[in-house]
Amino acid sequence: MDMLMIQLEKDSATPLYEQLYEEIKKGIIEGTIAVQTKLPSKRKLSEFLSISQTTVELAYAQLIAEGYITSKSRVGFFVEAIEELAYVEKTTSQQMIKTTKKHKILIDFNPGKIDTSSFPFTTWRKYAKDAIDDHKQDLLLIGSPQGEQELREQIASYLYQSRGVLCSPEQIVIGSGTEQLLPMIMKLLGEDNLYAIENPGYALTHHIFSQYNQSVIPIDVDEDGMQIQQLEGSSAKVAYVTPSHQFPTGAVLSASRRAQLLNWAAQEEERYIIEDDYDSEFRYIGKPIASLQGMDHRGKVIYISTFSKSLMPSLRIAYFVLPEKLLTRYHDIFTYYTSTVPRFEQHMLTQFMKDGYFSKHLNRMRKIYRKKLEKLTQALDPYAPTVSISGEQAGMHVVLTVRKEMSATDLSNIALQQGIRIIPIKEYMIAPTAQNREDQFLLGFGGIEEAEITNTIQKLMDCWRIRRTAD
Ligand SMILES: Cc1ncc(COP(=O)(O)O)c(C=O)c1O
Repeated sequence: MDMLMIQLEKDSATPLYEQLYEEIKKGIIEGTIAVQTKLPSKRKLSEFLSISQTTVELAYAQLIAEGYITSKSRVGFFVEAIEELAYVEKTTSQQMIKTTKKHKILIDFNPGKIDTSSFPFTTWRKYAKDAIDDHKQDLLLIGSPQGEQELREQIASYLYQSRGVLCSPEQIVIGSGTEQLLPMIMKLLGEDNLYAIENPGYALTHHIFSQYNQSVIPIDVDEDGMQIQQLEGSSAKVAYVTPSHQFPTGAVLSASRRAQLLNWAAQEEERYIIEDDYDSEFRYIGKPIASLQGMDHRGKVIYISTFSKSLMPSLRIAYFVLPEKLLTRYHDIFTYYTSTVPRFEQHMLTQFMKDGYFSKHLNRMRKIYRKKLEKLTQALDPYAPTVSISGEQAGMHVVLTVRKEMSATDLSNIALQQGIRIIPIKEYMIAPTAQNREDQFLLGFGGIEEAEITNTIQKLMDCWRIRRTAD
């Protein structure tokens, strides 16, 4: 056989050698490559398919190991006679992966993306290098289960200055993400609790609460945040809220509702509020909104936040602040667990904060995201009133309302066919809400280059056939 005509997908997640091996194996099993056929030499096949010789070598080695071909020294590779086998078709899940891969994501409005081009790698590297060079031997040992004392001191002082959170480092518990800390809070608050959650709300919390068999009561959200009246009418014991920047609507919990919420919690001993302050660092309009925790005088708020937005989601460092009265319970339950965050990373972050780089980074990123938001608003302006945005005071996403005779799901699918990922708000709902959000989308802009924003919005509008009404 002179050559093998094989289609390889160079940008597939499956390595090339594996694709090549699979295709030849399939040919042998199906009989399209006959027994005793001499396969092309490694050099010829690599040139023909424009791949490296190593790739061919690896594929041939695998076929030899599995008995599909043999190698005759200085002669070549030959197909072996094998028992008749039904070729196992790719499984449904593999087919599904292929189908989603068909829609390669070229533009991603996913709200979880941050700007990666402005990260201070040089400074971060210095702290990583220092941690190793300084032979910090104690970092090789297990640290405090609550997280490093020094990091908790830095977080306490940052929270006081920027969020009005009043706490001592002893009240802080560091863990590898909100998703890992929430189950700890659930354990602290006791089995069989009843949680009120925002609807629409952070999808992961819906998921976590149900995985841990906790009952949830969805509470509607409007332009002033969670509707506390609805909460008051429910039998919930704990309310999970994102008051500074409701996820995903972007609403800010109004001052009167904040007071109402705190009063609701004060009415019963076991009532608590979980305040998720995930992206409060990035506020563009008006004064920063102080935390609920800072307004609470009865020890009813468990404050939780993360470095996922302010630094990077891959760092996996988040923390919660417990009211003093829950500390004994925390120590009783969690004393025997070790921290889930590596000590070297905690040490690096401590130094980064101590030397003022965290604040510098936040100031810089705030400017960058503000510019991106301005660009986004300008880019969408000519398409009004068919489209409009809300929730643009803070964070790295806005809510896009699209007035078209088509459902958000259909519009989202149309966009996906063009390689654009944009998620309808209704995907964040766990029950129907009084307010119709059928025409709303979550538009994350953090991960899109500023220079690309106008272009990406134009592509989105073009694929939805929305024309400019003004220039
Ligand atoms: C509401 C909310 N809470 C928390 C987080 C961060 O979670 P983690 O700390 O697990 O990265 C996010 C991230 O997008 C979020 O949207």
